[in-house]
Amino acid sequence: MSNSAAERLTELIEHQNWLEPAERSVQSAVSKVFESAGRGVTDVLNGVWLGHPLHPVLTDLPIGAWTTALVLDLASMYGGGRRHREVADAAVGLGLVSALATAAAGLADWKDTQGKDRRAGFVHAALNTVVVGLYTGSFFARRNRARALGQALGVAGWTVLLASAWVGGELVYRYRDGVDQSNQLEPPEKWTPVLAEADLPDGQMRRAETGGTRILLLRRTNRIFAISDTCSHRGGPLSEGRLDGDCVECPWHGSVFDIATGDVIHGPAVHSQPRYEVRVKDGQIEVKLARA
Ligand code: FES
Repeated sequence: MSNSAAERLTELIEHQNWLEPAERSVQSAVSKVFESAGRGVTDVLNGVWLGHPLHPVLTDLPIGAWTTALVLDLASMYGGGRRHREVADAAVGLGLVSALATAAAGLADWKDTQGKDRRAGFVHAALNTVVVGLYTGSFFARRNRARALGQALGVAGWTVLLASAWVGGELVYRYRDGVDQSNQLEPPEKWTPVLAEADLPDGQMRRAETGGTRILLLRRTNRIFAISDTCSHRGGPLSEGRLDGDCVECPWHGSVFDIATGDVIHGPAVHSQPRYEVRVKDGQIEVKLARA
């Protein structure tokens, strides 16, 4: 039984089963929005082009802007001048604008979550909605010359923001959202036989396994390709997915990878699949991890 305060808090969130109907209906609505927006938009928001999840990169913008506003608000309370107040107001507005893009990227990731990480993501999004509400109030209070109210709402927003950031951290460090899960703990570094050549018909995918590492093999005429069979997104078995030309679509959330290179063609995965060199020796297909 875990006993740290952080772990107890995480368990508390995990046990809020009454949230499930709301999670499901919001996730369904979010998925429909992304479906209608198209795969290109979703890929951009997932971070396929970056090779890294986009959401955690963008979070620095609102957090940085609102932290700047907090510091300048404090400075203006303790003798700072008009310039401090003006920049603080601008930082609150900048935080709101950047929060929209950050939320869009976060939702693009969250739509493919399940179970505990879907719940944590839902709580994270709910807290962020409160944060945006508080900072929106702060923004308009400042514009209406109710500076003390605007500053108080800013402090409240920043406090909830800290709680939300902690939940976001749990999503990565506990639930491994966005972490490469292609499971290459002990990939074969030397030539290793994995399958009899006769067991790999042309144009069909096969899964081979060595040392706990699963490898997807595909023969195309006189070439054999090999990449990790374990999807870098959430560990789905690519060999059970759909082959489309030289690409394979993961059966779990639909990421598409080029089997020749391991590159991500479509997300939600953002990390390439590890690729293997292949040779045939004594009727056996042998592989070893390809160096980048
Ligand atoms: S496990 Fe999610 S796309 Fe493969």
